[in-house]
Amino acid sequence: MEDNEINELREAIKASPENIPLRKYLAKSLIKLKRYEEAELEYKNALKYSPDDTALKLGLAAAFCEQEKTSLGLVIIEGIIERSAPPASAWLTYSKLLMQSGNASKASEAYDNAIALDANLKDAFLESQINLSNRGNENPTPEKIKLGGLGEDEGDEKHIEIERPEITFGEVGGMEKIKEEIRMKIIHPLEHPELYKMYGKKIGGGLLMYGPPGCGKTHLARATAGQVNANFISVGISDILDMYLGQSERNLHSIFQRARDMKPCVLFFDEVDALGANRSDMRQSAGRHLINQFLAEMDGVEYDNDGVLILAATNAPWHLDGAFRRPGRFDRILFVPPPDEAARASIFKIHLEGKPVEQVDYTKVVKKTKDYSGADIRALVDIAVESKLEEAIRTGKPVPLGTKDLVKATGRHKPTTKEWFLTAKNYALFANDGGLYDDILKYLNIKK
Ligand SMILES: Nc1ncnc2c1ncn2[C@@H]1O[C@H](COP(=O)(O)OP(=O)(O)O)[C@@H](O)[C@H]1O
Ligand SMILES: [Mg+2]
Repeated sequence: MEDNEINELREAIKASPENIPLRKYLAKSLIKLKRYEEAELEYKNALKYSPDDTALKLGLAAAFCEQEKTSLGLVIIEGIIERSAPPASAWLTYSKLLMQSGNASKASEAYDNAIALDANLKDAFLESQINLSNRGNENPTPEKIKLGGLGEDEGDEKHIEIERPEITFGEVGGMEKIKEEIRMKIIHPLEHPELYKMYGKKIGGGLLMYGPPGCGKTHLARATAGQVNANFISVGISDILDMYLGQSERNLHSIFQRARDMKPCVLFFDEVDALGANRSDMRQSAGRHLINQFLAEMDGVEYDNDGVLILAATNAPWHLDGAFRRPGRFDRILFVPPPDEAARASIFKIHLEGKPVEQVDYTKVVKKTKDYSGADIRALVDIAVESKLEEAIRTGKPVPLGTKDLVKATGRHKPTTKEWFLTAKNYALFANDGGLYDDILKYLNIKK
């Protein structure tokens, strides 16, 4: 491709400005000639005619990437990756951008995705960059726990991943009281075992969180592992349950055993109430056996649980078997309420981090988001980012996101925590054994 050919292409486009394939060809040719700034301009021009064209957006992101306009590129690519089935080239550009932003471990994952989809995309230079930066870090390839599946065919085999979370308490907004509990009960004993021994304070037991969905229970459990540089295993009931007699108990045992081998390790049980729930697909008394197995593993009489931190969460604590609540087990049960104003402000800040943002009036945004969960707030940020992105692509220049965009997003996503309280209120009023749910009453401003 020569300069005069580029000029001919430009002439042709003048004659038929809505010819998108032609525009794509011009922009792509400019990339090949390493004339990235011009390519950027052409992609933007083309997007004015066809704003939803993924190939054009990818091209623009690549042009940004080559010019090291990293955050502009990331915003576009992340928008594409979040949708289903992004093409291989999207992963490759994503990987390069992540590398520019200094996130080598994520870059490595994105690169692997790209190559898995299209081996022709192999990029020796990028590969060497990634390997260099990741050297010395423990290899982040996830380990897995194999569980006995339904037996017959291979496809039924179940796995649980052992993660190494990178997030810490800093990425969790609010929840101060619960963070403090976790520090006292879980982190300090791990860091100062000799002190605890000296004062004869027994280490062990777990911490159970309950509350409306989306308020950060799982998120905080993962961050706890990151905070102490521990492994993290998240277990759902469907991972354990097996229709064969005794297999569910064996699965549970393998998981605990693996956590003991991998200490320090945060072992997190999500929807833990389901362990004891009556289920039609289990034998009558099977639920009991599984609970007993769980309690035996947790009591640590037969096994040494030192260095294993047990956290659990449930949206329905009233379905939890009472035996879980005895001393040495989940003797601390903590209510995770929807974030208050200060917490909402910090959750907004966490999710806006690294995005193009102008001065945000958090007081205003926080007033407009009563009853929004952490997950709801993340959704608001996503909606606001998306609208800005559309605008940026339409106008050809990035516009930072501001107060107005966040407030506007509340029109498109409503808070999701209120429904939970309809149910919770009844239990708190009529089944509040020993004041178990006083926190709910207090939150709802109901006097006993
Ligand atoms: N306190 C918080 N701080 C930051 N992000 C949060 C918070 N609470 C929720 N989120 C966001 O919402 C997502 C879902 O929350 P999650 O922890 O799964 O809720 P839960 O387990 O209570 O149902 C999280 O992955 C996180 O992105
Ligand atoms: Mg959860």
